[in-house]
Amino acid sequence: MSWVDEKAYNGLALVRQVREQQVYPHFRPYETGGVHATLYGKPVVNFSSNDYLGLTMHPKVKEAAKRAVERFACGLSSSRVQATTTAHIELEERLAKWFGWESCLLFTTGYQAMVGTIQSLSDRDTTLVLDNLSHACILDGTFLAAGVPVQSPEVRYFNHNSAKSLERCLKTRERKNALVLMEGIYSLDGDRAPLKDFVEVCERYDAVLLCDDAHGTGTLGKHGKGLTEESGMEGRVPIMISTFSKTFGGIGGILLGKADVVDYVKHNARAFLFSATLPVPIVAAASTILDMMEAEGPALVQELHEKSAYMRKCLLQLGFDLGKSDTHIMPVMCRDQRKALFMHVALLESGVNMVPITYPGCKEGEERLRLNVTRGHTKEDMDQALELLDTYGKVFYVQSGEDLGPMETSW
Ligand SMILES: Cc1ncc(COP(=O)(O)O)c(C=O)c1O
Repeated sequence: MSWVDEKAYNGLALVRQVREQQVYPHFRPYETGGVHATLYGKPVVNFSSNDYLGLTMHPKVKEAAKRAVERFACGLSSSRVQATTTAHIELEERLAKWFGWESCLLFTTGYQAMVGTIQSLSDRDTTLVLDNLSHACILDGTFLAAGVPVQSPEVRYFNHNSAKSLERCLKTRERKNALVLMEGIYSLDGDRAPLKDFVEVCERYDAVLLCDDAHGTGTLGKHGKGLTEESGMEGRVPIMISTFSKTFGGIGGILLGKADVVDYVKHNARAFLFSATLPVPIVAAASTILDMMEAEGPALVQELHEKSAYMRKCLLQLGFDLGKSDTHIMPVMCRDQRKALFMHVALLESGVNMVPITYPGCKEGEERLRLNVTRGHTKEDMDQALELLDTYGKVFYVQSGEDLGPMETSW
């Protein structure tokens, strides 16, 4: 056995154990897409989808992608440096205008947009200041920047969503240029950042704020432009990053900022320069969703909010703990690994998917089911989910928080 075989075998101990118990929840192979999908030949309502406005499966979106396949097929066989199309440029211009920033750059994924932007803006004169619950893309961009010989920035973490803690970091930083990295909505807890407070602190301490609004795009603000719109902070967030992998129905990263800043990142972000171009069918799909946002954004967002309010009210009435959530992302806190896994399997058997989040995806004792309300869910979907949650929640003592007690299996 080589060390690699040994490492893989030892590292998979928990995965093996969970598979043996037949409660392994990941990589399930869907046969169709959308929140009303099929899995193992049976219909399933997916409550762990990020298709927040339910536009991914819209016939117009699929038609636009099909037309683009005819012209450009599924790939351009190179990076943007030599494989840019008029479709990319047009969408970048439209997105910049719609979101309200000077300029936009499309990356192949949101993850790459973040990693590439952090890497290109950091050097030894920089302090990167991160929320301590940051998404992997923010952490990985930071680790990449910190690993560059001679150029590595200082790295500081502030307490989650705390403007006071952020202020302490900025006040005591050792490098002159600070880049503050935070998210609009945190996808595990469903809580939103105090953007106005962060903007004020950053302006006071001459720091540049970068907001990753992957989950706020399409869900916050009257028109769905995100936390900046909702907080009335238009024009005061220097850099924004978002994605097409949630509301925009596909895949792709969006960088928004001043023209020179975006142009600088375009010429320096290795995750942009050395990875293949976003395929044109995806650009066409996102562009069609942008048409819909422009035409009927407020109505779409309003419908999502009404559905979220209904689900939240019912979940709370049934006695569920939704943690810190104040958005359409409502984690059902189980606070026990077995409870989260058993609930997931029981719900799925009955046609409802809520993915369990367990350690190391969250802290021990904070295990939960991922429950995202989307505009695509019907009242019947929500009522079915609520009834099942209530029934199985009582079986596994989720609402009451009682201990499951010793089981035959050891976990
Ligand atoms: C907060 C946040 N940022 C960035 C990303 C990455 O986006 P993408 O899926 O486009 O790579 C995600 C996706 O999970 C996310 O939740």
